[in-house]
Amino acid sequence: MADKAGKTEFWESNFIEKQEMWGFEPAHSAVLTRDFFIQKSVKNILIPGIGYGRNAQIFRDSGITVTGIEISKTAIEMAGKHYGTGMTIYHGSVTNMPFDQCKYDGIFCYALIHLLDSSERKKLIGDCYNQLTDSGYMVFTVISKEAATYGKGKLISKDRYEIFDGVKMFFYDRESIHAEFDQSGLFEITEIDESYPFFLIKCKKGDK
Ligand SMILES: C[S@@+](CC[C@H](N)C(=O)[O-])C[C@H]1O[C@@H](n2cnc3c(N)ncnc32)[C@H](O)[C@@H]1O
Repeated sequence: MADKAGKTEFWESNFIEKQEMWGFEPAHSAVLTRDFFIQKSVKNILIPGIGYGRNAQIFRDSGITVTGIEISKTAIEMAGKHYGTGMTIYHGSVTNMPFDQCKYDGIFCYALIHLLDSSERKKLIGDCYNQLTDSGYMVFTVISKEAATYGKGKLISKDRYEIFDGVKMFFYDRESIHAEFDQSGLFEITEIDESYPFFLIKCKKGDK
């Protein structure tokens, strides 16, 4: 997908160049979230920023139906190659959600929201919340200000840095998590290590 300046979008070029750059093992948070969703009898989930599907398969292996959204066409093609074509993945930016009128009883959004600016983050949280069934759950993983990369690169706005060309990141702490998620049923924040220090954020619909 080309951006306004006609450049190939960062993630598309990255997947073309580096292919399956995170391997095939699911992230630690995906494993914990799979267990949590099973405990809550979640049956169908949405994964915004699904990549090439490494975090989708463990949910599918547990009988959960997965739908994805992904900005990189190459990543979607890789997901089809590795995990089959039986999974709907919408091609586009999460900033254009919703892509369908479905309600999901779970949403898992891994390492994506911190790439967005403040109004996009707010819209993503609202759009995800709106696509939850009554009493559905959404789980986000986000990078923490404890990361060694925090404060590196060009400062864009408070806690948001351009860490390299085309990639801007917002670094969270508990205060900014509360500020952004409290209105959307936030009930738990856990620290988790995913090569970088991350937070795992859980929200429940109906607790607004
Ligand atoms: C840091 S990676 C997340 C990791 C990936 N889910 C995995 O398997 O670990 C961010 C993912 O979100 C996708 N992405 C980035 N910005 C996006 C956007 N605005 N809309 C949809 N997908 C996006 C990227 O292409 C990439 O697959």
